[in-house]
Amino acid sequence: MPEADKAGERYQGDRPQAAPGFFLKGSHQLDWGMKNRLARVFNPASGRTVMLAVDHGYFQGPTSGLERIDLSIVPLLPQCDALFCTRGILRSLIPADTQKPMVLRASGGPSILREELSDEQIAMDMDDAVRLNAAGVGIQVFIGGEHETRSVHNMTRLVDAGLRCGMPVMGVTAVGKAMTRDAQYFRLACRIIAELGAQYVKTYYVDDGFETVTASCPVPIVMAGGKKLPELDALTMAYNAVSQGAAGVDMGRNIFQSEAPKAMIAAVGAVVHNNTKPKEALEIYKSLKAKG
Ligand code: R5P
Repeated sequence: MPEADKAGERYQGDRPQAAPGFFLKGSHQLDWGMKNRLARVFNPASGRTVMLAVDHGYFQGPTSGLERIDLSIVPLLPQCDALFCTRGILRSLIPADTQKPMVLRASGGPSILREELSDEQIAMDMDDAVRLNAAGVGIQVFIGGEHETRSVHNMTRLVDAGLRCGMPVMGVTAVGKAMTRDAQYFRLACRIIAELGAQYVKTYYVDDGFETVTASCPVPIVMAGGKKLPELDALTMAYNAVSQGAAGVDMGRNIFQSEAPKAMIAAVGAVVHNNTKPKEALEIYKSLKAKG
């Protein structure tokens, strides 16, 4: 008889990691400023966040749905917990009187015209993130990519700069075109990013074994949305991710490419913060969409 797979037992996803005195996994021993910024992005009541990702233009220009951020995204601000954008969009289009926390894309380099996207550099100084009153910065990490070492080093330099001023760093698992998106890969990538100091990690959902990705990552994980799916599928993915240990989402296309982005972000919020089941969330979406 083959030995039974003990992987589930090893990860023990049913035993939450303790964080005495703070609501967020892996963050209880951070300094006050860092915690305060995290508590602006993650809702202390639910422990989760709905980040709206609109940074796509940093390498692919005016992505479908982001052609006019002033018209398509600014009206959604009241419904997200935080916006993930570039400093160029922040300064040019986001009203400075918003109370929403901003997480700024801090890496860049190759455009969509290049085959190899892992050749990124740090693309903003931490001084500028502080000047912009950011609640965090985000950077792509290409584990297994051609420029893996550089992208890891970019992140560790950003983490060091962030620790000096209390700025959380979100490490983003970037998947190259040829890489397999499975739980084994994401366990590896998320764990490396956390071990090397990022305060939270953004990664993709996988159907098989996502709970092992969240359980083996000592800091919060937010789920990236990926390509546009039918609304019920996107809501189901978000529901599964938070049920399996994610501390929320950082979704873009599945919100701003929806036929009714305001209705969709409200439905995602119900899933993330209230554990609303996908079919009920779809009803929320449909009824808000019908009301226009
Ligand atoms: C990731 O690195 C991208 O720049 C986006 O922030 C990310 O892919 C999330 O957006 P989406 O939900 O559209 O995949």
